[in-house]
Amino acid sequence: MQNSSVSSEENGLKIQHLWSVEQLSDDDILFLFSWAKQFSLMSNQDLANKSFLRGEFIGSLFFENSTRTYLSFYIAARKLLAEVVQLDAASSSLMKGESLLDTARNMEALGCSLLVVRHHESGIAEKLARAVNMGIINAGDGENEHPTQALLDAFTLWHHFALPEKKLLHGLKIAIIGDTKHSRVAKSNMRLLPRLGADVVVAGPASLMLSDLHSYQVRHVENIDEAILGADVVMMLRIQQERMSGEVFFAKNNYLEQFGLTMPRFLKMPPHAVIMHPGPINRGVEIADEVADHGRSLILGQAKNGVFMRMAILHGLIRARQQKV
Ligand code: CP
Repeated sequence: MQNSSVSSEENGLKIQHLWSVEQLSDDDILFLFSWAKQFSLMSNQDLANKSFLRGEFIGSLFFENSTRTYLSFYIAARKLLAEVVQLDAASSSLMKGESLLDTARNMEALGCSLLVVRHHESGIAEKLARAVNMGIINAGDGENEHPTQALLDAFTLWHHFALPEKKLLHGLKIAIIGDTKHSRVAKSNMRLLPRLGADVVVAGPASLMLSDLHSYQVRHVENIDEAILGADVVMMLRIQQERMSGEVFFAKNNYLEQFGLTMPRFLKMPPHAVIMHPGPINRGVEIADEVADHGRSLILGQAKNGVFMRMAILHGLIRARQQKV
């Protein structure tokens, strides 16, 4: 990144929606890091006194299962004193045949200023953003992107390693291991982390490797042991069984031995190196229990930082939209 300065916090976000990490300017990223850090330091009483988003209605529409993203957006919005309108797709008029676009348009007409949407169709968040006036936040679209996850992952590393504001992730070696083919988290991270200065290496089973990996600024190695050698961070990916139409099958134990983060592999990592995983974890498949629960695992820290980063995103987008009017 160039032109880095946390004074960018004063400038505000330049985007009105967030469907991809590629929309973000350097200043946008610094703005979000800076606000996530500030929100992490504020008590609930401080937040109540400021009432950043009082009077705003945030829509939430999830077509795929979620624990972390769904709850952290909810908690983030409530900490900022926004109202959250959670529409249950299964009991909504979507079941009577109303389109997603008409549903979004009606949520906007009813007063929502932002809509957080998770959907199985790749590209749907951008499509919605181009068709409505309210802000759209991509909470995961098919196999495409999960931009808020990548932002919280990058923020977690920046905070954990206490890296300077002007360098962000410069000098960090990050190994991303597993199912890059189906993982939207991997795609957003492979776009964002190298841009912030990290050296990203990717490994996993050949049949689960993204076919256009060459279009990302990452290195690919065949062997997981080689990928984690000297890594500061090992980010394990969930095997996305729900996205596999029977073309791949891994017996659980076999996968862990071949491609998973076992304790013997963990012990070969440098003593300062940390573990990440976006969740949900397939324990005993891509990661051994005792590694997931180790003191050098940042997994629950990622979930916690998800609230602060999503507070920064909600606040930043609402403010950008207010400034536009
Ligand atoms: N990391 C993540 O997106 O988790 P959820 O599916 O639980 O939201």
